[in-house]
Amino acid sequence: MNKTPNTFPVPKAFAAKAHVDQQGYEKLYRESVEDPEGFWARQANEILHWQKPWDKVLSWDFKAPSVRWFEGGVINVSENCLDRHLTARGDKPAIVWEGNEPGETRTVTYRQLHAEVCRMAGLLRHLGVKKGDRVAIYLPMVPEAAAAMLACARIGAIHTVVFAGFSAEALRDRINDCGCSVLITANEGLRGGKRVPLKETCDEALAECPSVRKVLVVRRTDGETAMQAGRDLWLDQALRELPASANSAPEPMGSEDPLFILYTSGSTGKPKGVLHTTAGYLLHVSLTHRMVFDLKEEDVFFCGADVGWVTGHSYVVYGPLSNGATSVMFESIPTYPDAGRYWDVVERHKVSIFYTAPTAIRALAKEGDGWVKKYDRSSLRILGTVGEPINADAWLWYHNIVGEGRCPIVDTWWQTETGGVLISPLPGATATKPGSATKPLFGVQPVIVDDEGKEVLGNGVSGRLCIKFPWPGMMRTVYGDHERFRQTYFAMYPGLYFTGDGCRRDEDGYYWITGRVDDVLNVAGHRLGTAEVESAIVRSGLVAEAAVVGIPHEIKGQGIGAFCVLRDSVSSDASTIKGILHTVREVISPIAAPDAVWFVSGLPKTRSGKIMRRILRKVGEGEYESVGDVTTLADPAVVSEIVETVKSSRAG
Ligand code: WTA
Repeated sequence: MNKTPNTFPVPKAFAAKAHVDQQGYEKLYRESVEDPEGFWARQANEILHWQKPWDKVLSWDFKAPSVRWFEGGVINVSENCLDRHLTARGDKPAIVWEGNEPGETRTVTYRQLHAEVCRMAGLLRHLGVKKGDRVAIYLPMVPEAAAAMLACARIGAIHTVVFAGFSAEALRDRINDCGCSVLITANEGLRGGKRVPLKETCDEALAECPSVRKVLVVRRTDGETAMQAGRDLWLDQALRELPASANSAPEPMGSEDPLFILYTSGSTGKPKGVLHTTAGYLLHVSLTHRMVFDLKEEDVFFCGADVGWVTGHSYVVYGPLSNGATSVMFESIPTYPDAGRYWDVVERHKVSIFYTAPTAIRALAKEGDGWVKKYDRSSLRILGTVGEPINADAWLWYHNIVGEGRCPIVDTWWQTETGGVLISPLPGATATKPGSATKPLFGVQPVIVDDEGKEVLGNGVSGRLCIKFPWPGMMRTVYGDHERFRQTYFAMYPGLYFTGDGCRRDEDGYYWITGRVDDVLNVAGHRLGTAEVESAIVRSGLVAEAAVVGIPHEIKGQGIGAFCVLRDSVSSDASTIKGILHTVREVISPIAAPDAVWFVSGLPKTRSGKIMRRILRKVGEGEYESVGDVTTLADPAVVSEIVETVKSSRAG
């Protein structure tokens, strides 16, 4: 049998036509770190359309922390994503929408999207929304979601998109945290065989959101919904009734004016509002989308992420549209009506670049090669992955089966906080290794630090991943809580941005992300904080105390294991588990529901009362014999009980 190669060279024919080859990458990378201001100024000039040029490329201080790019510049994101493409690309599809049912499609050209966004921008202004106001978006994957984001950007309103799978409570908390005045939603969503009562969820949330004055409702289905007089408006009707003279001019935005807030989970407390600003973010997603996917004019780009996550922001909407590309927007799920759906979409829309998460790849691989091979994938030229480490098996299946061995794979590492990709191969430049995100992109200066925070130099080393120089797309603050921003990312290793990820740099200088080193879980590519899930579990009223850890999961990569100490008189039976799962779904979302619930009589704690998660993690991972030192525990006996409980739950 042939041995599987560990390195996949760039196909020669591919390199010849790529934007950047290996030498090009090395030269540009060197330039970008030796003269970052010169490099980014050149990119900003070439890539973006400015209403007024900037005065200063960069000022920064990771101690404060403060990062400001292109100050003095005036620029509008929607103008960059729409208006400037009208002459050359007016009739080019901007969004190709694939609805819930196979073949239910809609193509929106740049001209049409521009018109739609202008009307929506006019409507928002008509409703009194001004620059700096916050607008919540709770929509399924429909073109209106992209239009709503761009309409906000057009008038300088700050959007906060909330994933439409989140619960009423989660929606409420996000709306209240940033004080949204308008909410844009749909009457219902469709996901596979299910109808999702979005407006009902909004009504429940809004009962406790005093700041929301108006609700715009997209008519996605013929489903009825109660409309509250004076507050709720059908979007289609409101647009029809809007005076033709409504002001839709792009608002002049300062480079550092906020573009959006996106909530994401951290290791402690409630999700935080990651704030991204205008010019730097746009430049970063535009450049990375073009380079990482070697974008060509005729490409059809399909990123399977939901706009509720950062990947949807950067690589369904802002990256592709700023580049004048065709972006496929997918409303359904990869297994509806069957496991061939993605490849059906690829065939029908002639997708050339496909970008998804390892969890989806694993789930589809499990269904067998037949579903893939049934469809024509000759249009594909690049495959991408994001969201979690990809195991070699999944990578090889993606490469050999989906890509027929001819499409380079780009394993892109980044975070909500980073705005866009930071570490990734360039398909025409970088030989790949299954499981490695390979090399830093232009301007990105990764460092690996040890437990003491000392930088470890050279290759063949591992530790924690930090970044030592700002990049344009990085977050600027946690909305309303700058101190939390400092604490979370800049306090641990002074002078460095701390990613929260563990990392290895191999003998060739390739980066391998090994997963979170903090209390953030990555479940099927979704970020969840252990504290968040634990407090939801306790809310069930059944549990006195809970600790959750990541556990290995074949499809999700990481699943959730919950150790629960029940309240007095609550019995440890299936109905209690049901009650716990139900509460978590209601408080956060079905994506946060634990995969395993273990009832224990106590949690391993230090004498000062701190839960020793290290021990629980080991047990969750099945390392029963090597849980480490337990002598510092207040009651070491709980460990053997925990081990026995987990072992026996897995024996059957
Ligand atoms: C993980 C998603 C390994 C990582 C864009 C990071 C990855 C977290 C990769 C951010 C990758 C993302 N390889 N791990 N290619 N991409 N991650 O904020 O742990 O939802 O810190 O952003 O996902 O998740 P987030």
